[in-house]
Amino acid sequence: MKRVAILISGGGSNMLALLDSMAEPGHCGMPCLVASNDPQASGLARAAERGVATAALDHRRFGKDRPAFEAELHRIITDHGADMICLAGFMRVLTAGFVTPWSGRMLNIHPSLLPKYRGLHSHARAIEAGDAEHGCTVHEVTPELDDGPILGQARVPIIEGDTPETLAARVLTMEHRLYPAVLRRFAAGDRTQLFLP
Ligand code: GRF
Repeated sequence: MKRVAILISGGGSNMLALLDSMAEPGHCGMPCLVASNDPQASGLARAAERGVATAALDHRRFGKDRPAFEAELHRIITDHGADMICLAGFMRVLTAGFVTPWSGRMLNIHPSLLPKYRGLHSHARAIEAGDAEHGCTVHEVTPELDDGPILGQARVPIIEGDTPETLAARVLTMEHRLYPAVLRRFAAGDRTQLFLP
């Protein structure tokens, strides 16, 4: 059984989808912690309602000392016995100092068809570019932002008149299907790529 720590910064809709999926029979992962860099993240209460341990580590307390924030975050995660980490709407950039010890054991979901549109505002950029489709990617986390080995992707059409908000909502629905499906395989030691639909 893999003990999974999930890092969030906000509502945690992806985190909830992962929790619900791990509650299903036969899943090789179990949640051991939901942590946020924002003590106000509403996802913390939603995780606690489901009986999952939570932690808040306000990155602002550390000022510019990113290594100190990351060292404390690493300690909290290891104190909860995590075997792996899922970033789910986690909005802090993690340095190699944090990422390297979790190499091969940390996943992220990014709202684009990587390698297109790394970074922020991916939906607006896809619309701007006149793309016919967009989507989301689950990848292993490496020190390069939004760049690690791809484990799964889900595609959605971009529809005439789409705004970044309408497109983001359509992508988010697919995120909630893709991330749990990838984690179920990954926790069982299966790294074959998954493409939806
Ligand atoms: C989602 O668009 C996800 O792709 C990105 O963060 C956004 C919010 O995710 N990583 P959540 O609702 O907090 O899971």
